[in-house]
Amino acid sequence: MALVLGIESSCDETAVALVEDGHRVIGEAIASQADDFAAWGGVVPEIAARGHVLALPGLVARVLAESGRTVHQLDAVAVGAWPGLIGSLLVGVTAAKVIAARCSIPLIAVDHIEAHLGALHLGRPTVAYPLVGLVASGGHSHLYHASAAGRLTVLGGTIDDAAGEAYDKAGAVLGLRYPGGPHVDRLAAGGDPKRFALPRSFINDATLRLSFSGLKTAFLYAMRGPQGKDPLTLDAHGIADACASFQAAVVDVLVAKLLLAAEREGVRTIAVGGGVACNRGLRARLQTAAHERGWTLLLPEPRHCTDNAAMIAALGHQLWLRGEIADLRLAPLPSGSAGPRVR
Ligand code: KG4
Ligand code: ZN
Repeated sequence: MALVLGIESSCDETAVALVEDGHRVIGEAIASQADDFAAWGGVVPEIAARGHVLALPGLVARVLAESGRTVHQLDAVAVGAWPGLIGSLLVGVTAAKVIAARCSIPLIAVDHIEAHLGALHLGRPTVAYPLVGLVASGGHSHLYHASAAGRLTVLGGTIDDAAGEAYDKAGAVLGLRYPGGPHVDRLAAGGDPKRFALPRSFINDATLRLSFSGLKTAFLYAMRGPQGKDPLTLDAHGIADACASFQAAVVDVLVAKLLLAAEREGVRTIAVGGGVACNRGLRARLQTAAHERGWTLLLPEPRHCTDNAAMIAALGHQLWLRGEIADLRLAPLPSGSAGPRVR
C-alpha cells in the first residue's frame, strides 16, 4: 500500500491530506483563511502566506496523528507547486521539501489546476480515460482533454474572468459575504431564473470560448442601475431571483461548452473540478445532460472540488507511479507550468 502526503497552499486554504493507493483518503485537514479575508473582500497575499506558515506544521502533525501514521511511513510527498500566490506556494513547497529530505522520499510537484481533475481519482480505484473536463474555480475556467491523470490539453476557456470570480463579484453586488459563489448557489434554489434577462456570451457560436465579464457588468447594471451605483432595492425574493437568474446564465454556458467540447473530441466521459463544481445547479444540469446522452459524468465530492490537499496527493500518486519526480531545487511558480516535472 502506498501512502502519499499531499500539501496545498496556493491561495488562502492551508490543506494537508494522506491518501492511500491514490484514491483512499485516510486523513485530511484544512485551515481556511476565508473568514479573515471576508472583511477585505478578497485575499491579501502577504497575510495569506503568513497564515500558511502558522497553520501548516500543526496540520501535518494532526493529519498524521489522527490517521495513526508517522512521517516515516510515507512513500512520497506531493505539493501544489503552481500556479498560485508565490508567497503562499513557497510555504507549502518548502514544507514538502523538508519532509522529502528528512524522510528520503520522493518529492512530487503538482499542478494545482491539473489536480482539480486529479480529484476524480478520490474514491475511485480507477478512472477511465480519455475524458473531457472543465476546471471552473476562482481563477480558472478552462476545458481540457485528459488522456491520463495530469495529461491535459487545453481545448478552450475563458477569455476574461473565471466563472468563480464572476460568482464572487455577483455576490459582492448583492452584499453577500465573500466568497459569494456558495451563497449565490444557495439563494438561487429559491428564485426565479427568468426574472432578469442576462447575457450568455458565445453560447451559440461554434467555439469553445467562454466569457463572463459581460455577464458581470450586465448583472451590476441590472441590480444597481445604468451607472452601477444606485442602491440595491431588491427584497429577499428579488435577491433570490437575481441569484437564480445569474446562476442560470453561468450554468447554461458551462454546460453548453462542456458538451460541445466532448462532442468535438468524440469522448463520452465528462467531468468538472474546481470550486464551481460544488454548484448544485451545475451538478444537476450535467447529471441530466449526461443521462440523456448515455454519457458518464464524473464529479468529485464537493469538499474535493474546492481547494484541498487530497486532490494534490491523488494526482501526486499518479505522477509518482510514472516516475515524474521533482528534485529539491523545485521552485514554485506563480503562473502555470507546462514544463517537465523531472528537473
Ligand atoms: O477551486 P477553488 O476553491 O479555488 C481556486 O482555485 O480558485 O474555487 C473557489 C471558487 C470561488 O470563486 C467560489 O465562489 C467558487 O469557487 N464556489 C462556488 C461554489 N462553491 C465555491 N461557485 C458557485 N457555486 C458554488 N456552490
Ligand atoms: Zn483551486
